[in-house]
Amino acid sequence: MPKHSFVLNGKKVSVDIENNVRMLWVLRDVLGVTGPKYGCGIRVCQACTSHLNGKHFNPCSVPVSDIRSSDRITTIEGLAKTVKGKNLHPVQEAWIKYDVAQCGYCQPGQIMAATALINRVKKSGRKISEADLDTLRNVCRCGTYPRIREAIKYAASKM
Ligand code: FES
Ligand code: FES
Repeated sequence: MPKHSFVLNGKKVSVDIENNVRMLWVLRDVLGVTGPKYGCGIRVCQACTSHLNGKHFNPCSVPVSDIRSSDRITTIEGLAKTVKGKNLHPVQEAWIKYDVAQCGYCQPGQIMAATALINRVKKSGRKISEADLDTLRNVCRCGTYPRIREAIKYAASKM
């Protein structure tokens, strides 16, 4: 079986698996990293959202053969480690402050998408706007959207 290597949450990992297996299954079933959730498998619900080299990506729709050995994948499990000297990332702290989660299923993806959005907006030298928040496409069956928006605005002010 082909061997694939990449950096997962700061650690080099290798898997022996067929080229066409999607990254969501590599993460969840092979490596036991279950933060990225399965919702649709076709890049619609965004429940699986994680970061590839710091940018938002949907592992349900990326075959393992597309990942290079130097690629850095971050899931919700590794998000806090991306900020030095903290147990939680500022977006996770904001989620707690605004008591965002209900059932919680969509929330890892929500947090990863929010973090990527805040970083992208910050990089472009702007403040996060309602229009930026409108670009988020993560589905929440519990309807936590108003609290998500407040938490993101708060987190952005702290980052
Ligand atoms: S499971 Fe990946 S976008 Fe829905
Ligand atoms: S908190 Fe239940 S799906 Fe979003």
